[in-house]
Order: sequence, then structure tokens, then C-alpha cells
Amino acid sequence: MPSSDQVHGLRTNCIAGNKVNSSPQSFDEFAVQYDDAASLERKHDFFVEHLPLGRDSVLDVGCGTGLLSHELSRHFRSVVALDISEPMLAIARQKRSAPNIDYRLSNVDDFSNEAEFDAIVSHTMFHHLPSVPATLERLKPWLAPGGRLIAVDCVARFPRVIPRWSALYRAYATMQFLPDILQRGSHVAWALLRFRTSRVWIAHLQSDRYFSPPQFREIYSASLPGAQFTRLKTFMGVVWVAPAKSGPKGRQGS
Ligand SMILES: C[S@@+](CC[C@H](N)C(=O)[O-])C[C@H]1O[C@@H](n2cnc3c(N)ncnc32)[C@H](O)[C@@H]1O
Repeated sequence: MPSSDQVHGLRTNCIAGNKVNSSPQSFDEFAVQYDDAASLERKHDFFVEHLPLGRDSVLDVGCGTGLLSHELSRHFRSVVALDISEPMLAIARQKRSAPNIDYRLSNVDDFSNEAEFDAIVSHTMFHHLPSVPATLERLKPWLAPGGRLIAVDCVARFPRVIPRWSALYRAYATMQFLPDILQRGSHVAWALLRFRTSRVWIAHLQSDRYFSPPQFREIYSASLPGAQFTRLKTFMGVVWVAPAKSGPKGRQGS
């Protein structure tokens, strides 16, 4: 039975608990369009600036079409990149393969891992998880001592109930057009506008739910004590350094 906010076309913009509603597999339907748009605007500065000094291995969680994985392959000896969507991975393998990247089809919550990583990274994937704390608890033991978890995810711009009408998303996308022309040129600006106003992308955004910035800090801090947060416009960046492990296996990172 639909909730009253669905009946009235209103949805809460942020998440009440730590549970999200959007379909993780929805990228199957628009992998090519997503990659075309993301490759025009993606920057990796936040990740590159926060990489640990030890750079043997890195895990990219929800790697999508491999934009970040490919950048990381220039900084690490080996990259394991996993995603739940085969169409996204097919593009990654075709456009962004490298001898040191191992693309794998897997849900992060089912991924069985024996390795230890110097870094675990993720870009705009965590809001698709059924439980962010549960996944963070799975990931933490996979980090080498001194290794880093570096993640960027979307946060809700408006903490209150707002309409999630497609016309509002189209209006917001159109407002970005002029700044995009100035920053990226008209060709790229048109391509981004077409994607941001496309039916598939707007349907995806309407189903997305994000933490508000205070919720984000609270929930991530509970699993990652001492984590550092950076507000990046409509995103939040988080960096957490894994503590040293006791015992002979402990390897001190940098
Ligand atoms: C917004 S895209 C980001 C892709 C890529 N990180 C990027 O920045 O271009 C989110 C990705 O997370 C993947 N994903 C969602 N839930 C997942 C899960 N539980 N395990 C692995 N991948 C997941 C989706 O298939 C999609 O490729």
C-alpha cells in the first residue's frame, strides 16, 4: 500500500534511519548514458589527495564503469574493483582496463575477501546499501593497519520534506546549464543537460535517498571513530585511518 507521501507526490528527501530505498541494480538500465555523462565531469582530486603512502593494493567498492579504478591503477600496484552491475562492468572492462585492475561482479555485502588493502575507496555508492553501518563493519577488517577508507557519497541538500516531482529535477538541471557552459564549454554542457534531464536519470534520482550532513557524520562516525569529514557541495567526503592491529601479523602503514 502506498504511503501518504507517495499518494501526494511528496517524498522525504533524506533518510530517517540508516536504510535506503533506491534500487542498486537500476544502473543496468542506463550504464552507457551514465558513463558518457560521468566521464565528462568526474574529478578524482579528493581521493588522490588522501591516498596513504603505502600503495600496494586498493579496493574500489561500487566501481561502476571504472572511472576511479582506472585513476587508481596509476597510483597502486593492484586494484580490485567490484560492482553489482554487469552492464557497468562491461563498460569498465572495455574502456578502462589495465593490467593491474581486476574487475569483479559482486555485491559488496556478498564479497568474500582474504586480502588486506592499503585503501578501500568508494564514490557515490554507499547510499544504495541496505545498511551503511553493516557494510562499514564488513570493510574495516580488510584494511591494513594505517590503511585508509576514503569515500564520497551524496548528501541531502534539503533536510525537510520536499516534493520529488520530475519538473523540479529538470529545473535544477537547467539551472546548472549556464555554469557548465562557462566551466566546460557548450558541447559538454549540452551533453550533461541531456543526461540530467533524461527520463531514466530523473526516475533514478526520484528513488534515491540520502543522509542529511548531520546524519551522515553521526552514522559514519559511529562505525569509523575519528573519521574526518569534508563537505563537497552536494557530496560528503569521509576519510578514516585504520588503527594498528596487535599481534605478529600487524603491518604498520603510513
Ligand atoms: C552512482 S554509481 C557510481 C559508480 C562509480 N563509483 C562512479 O563514481 O562512477 C553507483 C554504483 O554502485 C553500484 N552498486 C550499488 N550497490 C552495490 C552493491 N551492493 N555492491 C556493489 N556495487 C553496488 C552500482 O551498480 C553502480 O555502478
